[in-house]
Amino acid sequence: MTGNRRSAAWFGETGRAGMIYRSWMRNQGFGPEVFDGRPVIGIATSASELAPCNAHLDRVAEAVKRGVWQAGGFPLVFPTMATGETLMRPTAMLYRNLMAMEVEELIRANPLDGVVLLSGCDKTTPAMLMAAASVDIPAVMVTGGPMLNGKYRGEDVGSGTHVWKFEAELKAGRMTQEECFFAEGCMARSNGHCMTMGTASTMACMAEALGMQLPGSATWPAVDARRFEIAQDAGRRIVAMVDEELRPSGILTREAFENAIRVNAAIGGSTNAIIHLLAIAGRAGVRLSMDDFDVPARAVPTLVNLMPSGKFLMEDFCYAGGLPVVMRRLAEAGLLHSSAVTVTGKGAGDNVSGAECWNDEVITPMDAPFQPAGTATAVLRGNLAPGGAVIKQSAASPELLTHRGRALVFDTAEDYHAVCDDPDMDVTESDILVIRGAGPKGYPGMPEVSNVVLPAKLLKAGVTDMIRICDGRMSGTGYGTVVLHVTPESAVGGPLALVRTGDEITLDVPSRSLTLHVDDAELDRRRAQWTAPEPVSASGYTWLYTTHVLQADEGADFDFLRGKRGHAVPRDSH
Ligand code: FES
Ligand code: MG
Repeated sequence: MTGNRRSAAWFGETGRAGMIYRSWMRNQGFGPEVFDGRPVIGIATSASELAPCNAHLDRVAEAVKRGVWQAGGFPLVFPTMATGETLMRPTAMLYRNLMAMEVEELIRANPLDGVVLLSGCDKTTPAMLMAAASVDIPAVMVTGGPMLNGKYRGEDVGSGTHVWKFEAELKAGRMTQEECFFAEGCMARSNGHCMTMGTASTMACMAEALGMQLPGSATWPAVDARRFEIAQDAGRRIVAMVDEELRPSGILTREAFENAIRVNAAIGGSTNAIIHLLAIAGRAGVRLSMDDFDVPARAVPTLVNLMPSGKFLMEDFCYAGGLPVVMRRLAEAGLLHSSAVTVTGKGAGDNVSGAECWNDEVITPMDAPFQPAGTATAVLRGNLAPGGAVIKQSAASPELLTHRGRALVFDTAEDYHAVCDDPDMDVTESDILVIRGAGPKGYPGMPEVSNVVLPAKLLKAGVTDMIRICDGRMSGTGYGTVVLHVTPESAVGGPLALVRTGDEITLDVPSRSLTLHVDDAELDRRRAQWTAPEPVSASGYTWLYTTHVLQADEGADFDFLRGKRGHAVPRDSH
C-alpha cells in the first residue's frame, strides 16, 4: 500500500466518496483487490476510425494492459481525441493543442498514477507528449507503428511521398486517373501510420530519442507481432516507473532535446519535428529556440536512407536494426548525450550499446553516410523572415539552394491552385513562388500546403523543382526546395505580407539567409498601407486558437498552455 499515490485519494478513501469511486468501477466486473493500493495506470488511446493511422490502437492497448496486469498494476483504458492528418480540415494541426489540452486534463482529473500514451498519426504524438510534460506523472509512449511498405507494380511506394509523385505524373499525362485509383490502395495496405520518414515516423523516432518510449519502439510495423510485444513491455515498465517516480520532468531535459535534434538530422526527419519539439520543450520548461536546431545538426550526417529524401521505407529501417543503430552510431561519434535518462531508467547510450546493424545501405555508417554532415534542415534568417524560417536541404535540389529569382506572390494557396494549371501562366522555372496566409493564425492552423505542385506548364516541360516560400508547413512526406515556417507569418504583418510579384528574392542556404531585395523605406511604405486580414472566427474553438496561438518559432502552442501545471489531486467531486 502506498498512501502517497494519486489513486489513493480516490480508491483509498473511506466513507461516501470512496464508495462512489469504487462502486461504479465495480460495474465493470473488477473485484475489490484492484483497490488495494496498486498503481493505477491509464492507457490513453487515440484510436479512431476517423484517424486511420491510429485505427488499430485498441489492439495495442490490449497488449499494454497485459503488461500492466503482469507487473501488478491496475490498467484502465481511456479514449482521447485523435487528430487524423488525412481527413481533418482545415488541418489537423489546428487541433494538436486541443488534443494536448484534453489529454492533460483527462490525466489530472482521474485517479491515475502513471500513463501509457498510444499515438500514431503526426499530431497525436506531440499532443500526448505535450500533455505528459505539463501534467508530469510517470508516462511511457507507445507509437502505433508504420504501415507495411506500399507496393505498386513491383515497386515500393511511400505514403505521402508518392501522392505528390502520382499527382505530378497525372498532371504531366504520364499516368491515368484509373492507374491513380489503383495505386491509392497499393500505397496504404495495412494498419499503421505513414511508412515514409514523414512526420509520424519522425515523431515516433523523436519520442524514442527523447527517451519517452522504449528503445526500438519507433520502427516495428503496426502489424508486426513485436509491436504488441513491446507494448506489453511498456505496460510492465510503467508500473515500475511509478514506484521509481520517474516522471517526464526527469527525462525531458535539455540533453534529451539535443539528442532528439541530432537524431532528427541523422534520420532525415520531418521539418515538423522542429515545431513539435519547440512546443514540447515549452511545456517541459526547457529553453529551446529555432537556432538550437541549426548548429547542432550541422555536425550530423544523414545516416538513414528513407523516402522522401532517399529510397527505402520504415519496414526496411526496422529490419536494418531501427533507431537504436542510429543512436549507437551517434553515441560512438560523441554526438549523443549518452547519460540522458530514458523510460528504461537507463541512459540513452546504455540502451543502445548492443544495437547491431543488419543493412548498411538503409542505415549508412558515419564514415560513408547517405548524405554528408551539413545537409540537414537549416534555419534561415533575413529581412523576409526575421523570426526564422526552415528548409529541409536533404529534400531540396542542390542547385536551387543558392538562387536569386523573381517573386510570384499568392495571398492564399487557393489563389495559386486557381491558376497553376493555366498553360499560359506567366512563370519560369527560375521564379520563386511565394504562398502566404498559411501561418498559424492566418489559415488558421498552419497547414501543410507549402509544397504546392509546380505549374502544369513547367511540369509538362520536364521541370521537377522550383523554390517555394511559405508561412505554412510541409508534410514530412513532401519534398522540393521549399522554405517553410516563415516567421512572423503574413497574417500578423510579417514581411512576407509585404512582398509583391516582381520583387527579387535571394535564397542562400549556405549562409542561412533569405533576403527580399526591397529597401527598408519601401517596405515601410508598404507596411503603412497593409491592413490585417479579418479574424477568421469571432467565437468557438477557432477564436480561442487564433487569439492564443504562438508563432512557429515558439512551437505554435497556446500562450496559456506553456509550462507545467502538475498533477496535484483536484478537490473532491462529491
Ligand atoms: Fe497519419 Fe501520415 S497521415 S501518419
Ligand atoms: Mg503529415
